[in-house]
Amino acid sequence: MALTGKVALVTGAAQGIGRAFSEALLRQGCKVVLLDVNAVAGESCKNDLDTEFDSCSTLFIACDVGSEEQLKCAFKKAFERFGSLDILCNNAGINNENNWEQTININLTSVIRGTYLALDYMNKQNGGKGGIIVNIASLAGIYPAPHGPVYTATKHGVVGFTRAIAATSKLAGYGVRVNTICPAFVDTPLLNSVDSQEMMGKFYIFKDTVKELIDHYGILDPALIVQGLMKIIQEEDLNGAVMRITKTKGIHFENYDSALVQPALK
Ligand SMILES: NC(=O)c1ccc[n+]([C@@H]2O[C@H](COP(=O)([O-])OP(=O)(O)OC[C@H]3O[C@@H](n4cnc5c(N)ncnc54)[C@H](O)[C@@H]3O)[C@@H](O)[C@H]2O)c1
Repeated sequence: MALTGKVALVTGAAQGIGRAFSEALLRQGCKVVLLDVNAVAGESCKNDLDTEFDSCSTLFIACDVGSEEQLKCAFKKAFERFGSLDILCNNAGINNENNWEQTININLTSVIRGTYLALDYMNKQNGGKGGIIVNIASLAGIYPAPHGPVYTATKHGVVGFTRAIAATSKLAGYGVRVNTICPAFVDTPLLNSVDSQEMMGKFYIFKDTVKELIDHYGILDPALIVQGLMKIIQEEDLNGAVMRITKTKGIHFENYDSALVQPALK
């Protein structure tokens, strides 16, 4: 798929994985809508990108993805500015076991809401042109993280929702592929949350265990997660895929028992 001129929207774009995604998409010739709740970091990210890319190819929108109104408004603004929406990366996420209700809202509810909003624009059955949605989960979407039960629940939710809506899209002919990426530990500021009592709440006592886990499994470069994103965008048969990214095995896929999948959905 040639990406020149395609329009991508990335949530949590100001830093970390979202920023790496945005830069890579711009390098491929996309126009990128950068959404982030942190307006200062978002503006600064846009200014940095403007030194390398045409300033008209990005739009920063300060948006809390946890707010239905702000998210709807951001999609509308993005569509009005660029006249299309081809790729959505539902990437924004937090690791806050203390305010676990907020973690559910940001990590899961906003991914569902973002997917439905994108489908409103992309769905071929509604006159859209089709598109690609990539939801960022985590290896905690496949395995339990004892230091983060709610983070684990949200990421399992992202994996389940993505697989189901991908099957819906295929059955109903939406023309939209929906996939998820489950990385192990990635070198971004999010990892600092394990050192924060305010974020970890009663699970803060496990911080040394988490650090041992991080040392054991290693820390991935965001560039490898970008490679995973590009593979999903380019490989047109990928729909409902659960991509795992680890230090030992690199980019690979979770294999589910297809005998358990309803025949029409295989
Ligand atoms: N870093 C890791 O080890 C790791 C591993 C697996 C999965 N992930 C997932 O990858 C995604 C990106 O994480 P990251 O590591 O780049 O984190 P990060 O903390 O470095 O960046 C997250 C970005 O999201 C933004 N954000 C947070 N809440 C938001 C909200 N309510 N509305 C809009 N923007 C918001 C932040 O301001 C920040 O710019 C998350 O979904 C995370 O769960 C991260």
